[in-house]
Amino acid sequence: MEKIIVINGPNLNLLGTREPDVYGSTTLASIEQRLQIVGEDLRCKLAFFQSNHEGAIIDRLHEAREHEDGILINPGAFTHYSIAIRDAIKAVALPAIEIHLSNIHAREAFRAHSVIAPVCLGQVCGLGVIGYELGLQALVRHLRNEKE
Ligand code: DQA
Repeated sequence: MEKIIVINGPNLNLLGTREPDVYGSTTLASIEQRLQIVGEDLRCKLAFFQSNHEGAIIDRLHEAREHEDGILINPGAFTHYSIAIRDAIKAVALPAIEIHLSNIHAREAFRAHSVIAPVCLGQVCGLGVIGYELGLQALVRHLRNEKE
């Protein structure tokens, strides 16, 4: 059974009330509940982590090396400048998929660039909550193909 860590970065704990016109009105707890159900259908085991702190996210990524097989990550604003999170993903050498609720390519220019994307398998953005589910499906499929 594949183990996946789902990491959400800064301000994503405020989903539901944070800029609902941009991010929707679903809370992070509901996103995680839905993902849990999708995970059970896919027969994989999910763990969830949210932090507003770069170092805490890096520590959790390091832990994933021991405990998980893959990473689903919405790094929030760290997407655009955290070389340290990028390096941590590269260092743990686990397949990762980057998720964004909003279409980062259709917003302010500074959001269009992700320093994380080059160390990920792929990026899902602009599809709202379902993006997490699609990312999870893609990650599990990747892990199963790797084993074949
Ligand atoms: C986000 C996009 C980022 O630019 C922003 O800083 C976020 C959320 C998204 O899910 O659309 O915090 O990652």
